[in-house]
Amino acid sequence: MSEAITTQPPSSRVLPHELPAALRDAGLTNWIREPLDDAVDRRRRIIMPPAAATIGTPASAYQGALLAESRHPDTVFMMGDNPALPAMPERPVLKDFFMLRFSPIARTHLLQSARVARENGLDEKVIMACLVHDIAIAGLLSANHGYWGAQIVGPYVDEEVAWAIEKHEALRYFPDESVGYTYPEAYIDYFGPEYTPPEYIRREHEAARRHRWYMTSRLITINDIYSFDPNVVADFDDFEDVVGRNFRQPSEGLGFDGSPVAHMWRTMIWPNNFL
Ligand SMILES: [Fe+2]
Ligand SMILES: [Fe+2]
Repeated sequence: MSEAITTQPPSSRVLPHELPAALRDAGLTNWIREPLDDAVDRRRRIIMPPAAATIGTPASAYQGALLAESRHPDTVFMMGDNPALPAMPERPVLKDFFMLRFSPIARTHLLQSARVARENGLDEKVIMACLVHDIAIAGLLSANHGYWGAQIVGPYVDEEVAWAIEKHEALRYFPDESVGYTYPEAYIDYFGPEYTPPEYIRREHEAARRHRWYMTSRLITINDIYSFDPNVVADFDDFEDVVGRNFRQPSEGLGFDGSPVAHMWRTMIWPNNFL
């Protein structure tokens, strides 16, 4: 071993300034990455919680305090790769989002839905729709997830698949006895037994029922119901063939093809960017 290595100077790491007590007391240290002694970036990095996650919660009162932190020279806002997340490839494909970004619960739910659809012998379009029907919840936003989800995949799938994903959100609330679909037990837990969906969801359901692709969307809701079995293992690779035929993967990578929804994929790659 060379002399140069054994006589390296001690780390020049300087601890960042003390965080304001108010931020600590509010539990906002969750949004702060303290510097590591990794010679890459020894500054503290703050994640500004997105409006959709904080409006209506106590955290929204601390936006100003978090902004003020960026004035310290040892502190910046998170931009680019968050070291807490696995690195994404330069040209990510759908599988990368499943494996490197989606939570295990969301990934399992989507894979099991697609698996049941395949076992039921359904059309590949339905299997594809089931595979990504809750992609918005998995990687972006939960509220209005059917609509977000349809847009996220819109440029890459058949129009019928995107339509079915959009409408499944409304159809979930309404039984269809002709195909044995009843109101989900889980929704009684989630929303309480007295919950009734808002008027716009009722109108969406009525219109969807009269549409020629109604059954494609209804089949998502049917396969959705049985998709929470923790003992069933499903692998993304089991669906490589379906994805290959039904999802137009852009050669530049999802997020970099200049499509009208590329920014949604980039937001899933770098979900913690300040801007
Ligand atoms: Fe859903
Ligand atoms: Fe679902």
